[in-house]
Amino acid sequence: MNTSPTATDGLAVLHGPDVSVVVDLGHGVPTVLHWGAFVGECSADLRSALQVPLPHGGLDVLAPLSLLPEHGSGYLGRPGIEGRRRSGTGWAPRFELQSFSANAHAISTVSVDQHEMLEVRTKFELRPSGALRTRATLTNLGTEPYELDAFRLTLPIPAHARETLTFSGRWTNEFQPVRQSLVTGSVVVENRSGRTSHNRVPIGFAGVNGFQESTGEVWGVHLEWSGNSIIAFDVSTDGRRSVQAGELLQSGEVVLAPGESYTSPWVCAAFSSNGTNGATRSFHEEIRSRSSHSKTARPVTLNTWEAVYFDHDLTTLKALADRAASIGVERFVIDDGWFHGRRNDRAGLGDWWVDESVWPDGLWPLVDHVGSIGMEFGLWFEPEMVNPDSDLYRAHPEWVLTDQRYEPVLGRSQLVLDLAIAEVREYLLLKISSLLTEYPISYIKWDNNREYVHASHFGRASVHAQTIGLYRLLDDLRALHPNVEIESCASGGGRIDFAILERAARVWTSDCNDPKDRQRIQRGYSYVFPPEYMGAHIGGPISHTTRRRHSLGFRAGTAFFGHLGIEWNILDATDSDLKALTGVIETHKRFRPLLHSGRFVRLDHPNPAVLAHGVLASDLSEALFAFVQMDSSESLVVESLRIPGLSPDRDYRVEVLPLVDPVMGAAKRQPPWIASGLTMTGRLLSVVGLQPPILDPESLLLIHVSER
Ligand code: DGJ
Repeated sequence: MNTSPTATDGLAVLHGPDVSVVVDLGHGVPTVLHWGAFVGECSADLRSALQVPLPHGGLDVLAPLSLLPEHGSGYLGRPGIEGRRRSGTGWAPRFELQSFSANAHAISTVSVDQHEMLEVRTKFELRPSGALRTRATLTNLGTEPYELDAFRLTLPIPAHARETLTFSGRWTNEFQPVRQSLVTGSVVVENRSGRTSHNRVPIGFAGVNGFQESTGEVWGVHLEWSGNSIIAFDVSTDGRRSVQAGELLQSGEVVLAPGESYTSPWVCAAFSSNGTNGATRSFHEEIRSRSSHSKTARPVTLNTWEAVYFDHDLTTLKALADRAASIGVERFVIDDGWFHGRRNDRAGLGDWWVDESVWPDGLWPLVDHVGSIGMEFGLWFEPEMVNPDSDLYRAHPEWVLTDQRYEPVLGRSQLVLDLAIAEVREYLLLKISSLLTEYPISYIKWDNNREYVHASHFGRASVHAQTIGLYRLLDDLRALHPNVEIESCASGGGRIDFAILERAARVWTSDCNDPKDRQRIQRGYSYVFPPEYMGAHIGGPISHTTRRRHSLGFRAGTAFFGHLGIEWNILDATDSDLKALTGVIETHKRFRPLLHSGRFVRLDHPNPAVLAHGVLASDLSEALFAFVQMDSSESLVVESLRIPGLSPDRDYRVEVLPLVDPVMGAAKRQPPWIASGLTMTGRLLSVVGLQPPILDPESLLLIHVSER
């Protein structure tokens, strides 16, 4: 049915408060003509206003930059669909629009290629968060199979988007920002690791030259998918710019039998006219608006990994639990090492029953103890993996995701289980579920510690089916145990994306607990993901991955904004450390409602030795900021910190929020507001800002702002 109050002359318009999306339905597959600032009334003349002239030396047509650009229509960039019939036809399909429906918030379309008997259905939704979500489905209407090699969705970005921001990184150093100019050619981020990845994250921003956190127009995209992916920014020869996002399919991975369909992951896109913070706001509001989002307070956690590693001993763990409870911890999590044969990281994965030699009475003595002192109990799993040295592998070597004809490539001495096999999912569901039924476990940490190589299901590439299998397993488990919270961990931050956040209440952001590195990791994380999902733990005085030593104040202030936890053998902590930790946890609980529901912002500051971020209450009555002195500054004194976003005409009281040790560096006199606070309007804070004190490198200051 072609019915729409907003679709006139083949244009459908979606409006949000600060954003508009104009979609041209006059061609085969919808073409987004405008995604950006609010444009108000829109007529078909927009099409002619944007019509590019036909230059000499090119084709006699200008192919639309549609959601799935078509080589067969003359698009010479990376096409939206790549694939073929066995005979070789169907490699450049061309679609005709069959029908559409549109309302003020959503558009759906159906297009068909009558020659190749392929159908494309698309969906666009402009969400209350301001985010645009789009996805498409390809169906094989023919009588022969259709092999799909690529299916990437394309959105236009305007000519003045001249720079990109993407994220690189590695294990223990995730979410490192990469700025590149977008003048010609492409900026491509391809992930083939089988998981969302530490280093090729499916996130990309483009913006005007020099866009900052609070200034400049910015267009951001995120692919909601936990497997292989591609994000590509392109400038075509005729000057048009676009961003493409999709699952990266390996050869032969998706073959559509007659009548079968492939549906792309959702692409979530956020526009901002005020720097990346505006796009961040839409991304955060978007995931918070979903039914999967847990609004309950995120319990302060103690995780045993960095405290005892594989050295599980009931007496020590009970003492650790007592300490944790005494300082205000609310959840106690037993990490790796509790299950059959798991005395080190070379054996046991797959044998998901309690190790009889370490736990002769099962987990009960510890579980009972933890419950009796008022904490929740959590347990670690790595369900997708198996060690060759395990009873499971000895019984079922054929359950492994690899090509059995080749010697498999190991990672951390382990192999991946094939989740496309129903019996594998059933085995894992049964094993995990029986533990969740036997014990009062309220939380599981779901780990995944290797990249996928030669990931084959009976010889065929299978990361796509593996990812769907993972979602099915998680969904089945959640249906059986709806009150159990799941944390997504993949050697730290290797699996963080919106599709996994629909199934997990928390992520383990990084195996790096060094607060200096964590500041940058967490800042990169924050572009798309909100603080309440961000597992952030106070580690011991010496970081276990960098061997650097940091003060408790810096460690605590760095973890403070996220889902707070401790990952440190606090049996070794001094009395003064324990007293300080008690205070940190108390203060965190006080600010947790603000931190985990407010608007997260990264502040711009001209000095590269400094970082700053904060959270503003949604009614702008309160805010909490962190001013972080990362390194020694080139100048003797660090420049003023401008704080935008508060209500311009309201008066605010500005005070240091004391956390642990004194933060001051060597100065004859610090700015007076450090000791006695001050009152300023939101406008002054934004325009003039605050003079920061002199701090030692690798320390920070929390600044509380509250309406008078
Ligand atoms: C990797 C995780 O990121 C760590 O936190 C820990 O759970 C180990 N795996 C355990 O093997």
